[in-house]
Amino acid sequence: MVSKMRRATITGVGKYVPEKVITNKDLEKMVDTSDEWITSRTGMKKRHIVQDDETTADIGFNAAVEALNDANINPEDLDLIIFSTVTPDMLFPATACLLAERLNTGKIPAFDLEAGCSGFVYGISVAAQFIETGLFNNILVVGSETLSKITDWEDRSTCVLFGDGAGAAILQPTNKGGLLAFDLGSDGSGGKHLKLPAGGSLKPSSNKTIENREHYIKMDGNPVFKFAVRIMGQSSLDVIKKAGLKPEDVDLFIPHQANIRIIKAAANRLNLTHDKVFVNLPEYGNTSSASIPIALTEAKEDGLIKNGDIIVLVAFGAGLTWASTIIDWNEG
Ligand code: ACO
Repeated sequence: MVSKMRRATITGVGKYVPEKVITNKDLEKMVDTSDEWITSRTGMKKRHIVQDDETTADIGFNAAVEALNDANINPEDLDLIIFSTVTPDMLFPATACLLAERLNTGKIPAFDLEAGCSGFVYGISVAAQFIETGLFNNILVVGSETLSKITDWEDRSTCVLFGDGAGAAILQPTNKGGLLAFDLGSDGSGGKHLKLPAGGSLKPSSNKTIENREHYIKMDGNPVFKFAVRIMGQSSLDVIKKAGLKPEDVDLFIPHQANIRIIKAAANRLNLTHDKVFVNLPEYGNTSSASIPIALTEAKEDGLIKNGDIIVLVAFGAGLTWASTIIDWNEG
């Protein structure tokens, strides 16, 4: 076991998911697909979608308020906000700053972090460092996405996969348990397989980029799938080992909700039984960096988490990136 006196732990969680739902049957009317194909290839049944005037900051705010209430602290107690998203309200200012203003936190540091669907776990790894060094005591980490706004609803290879939502966590210091270890990585050689090509310095927005539909997600599903199958299991095994534990010590496994086949492959690598693996992707689809905090919140709401449980969070995403952490759950 890693020996550190002051560790970070998660003391509150929250989520927000928009009301509007698009089912597989709805998608059958929009593109050349079928409920059977989507269910068998991905495990997804529905995805929730924001209203046109609803933003990533809006839904992140709702999740943040729930997490603050769950941790029983006020916005003015916060020392830092880290906001993970690939769908910021604007390229700048950071959505974290918009959220700080909305929460009325005072003039605290706030920044966005972009690591694709791995961003929330990256975010809590960064927050944990600030707590372990003693610099900060109360940190809000948000994962919030409005992927529907960058989804090409004419592209059947991507539009069936993604949904909107937000999740949040409060990190505070603890002397018992907490976040035991992290495993983070990236492989930029796979960046070409999952991207939003235009709107940055490479291809500034123009009539041509709009005509070419380059402001939407582009993905080669199969290489991303192969990467995910390999890395989700490997990163989980690595982080469990870093904490000095074994796969059989894990009480709950919360993977990024991208595809049921990827989740099953990772769970098999760890020899986990079905009841230890949290799955909500039939309801929400892939909500990118919101997927893990939404799942963590639902697992807690469902009474699946108690003090002393060993919980693994693991994600992969655009970059390509991966991130995992292992928690000895202790809300203090
Ligand atoms: N409906 C019907 N057919 C479809 C659909 C659809 N919605 N989408 C693709 N197909 C077709 C393809 O055109 C292809 O047809 P062909 O054989 O005639 O060429 C066939 O289905 C099989 O396509 P594959 O890509 O080989 O199918 P695969 O088994 O790889 O499953 C999937 C596709 C579900 C996209 C899978 O590759 C996957 O889940 N990849 C990972 C994607 C992912 O998680 N991305 C998010 C990363 S996280 C982030 O940062 C956002």
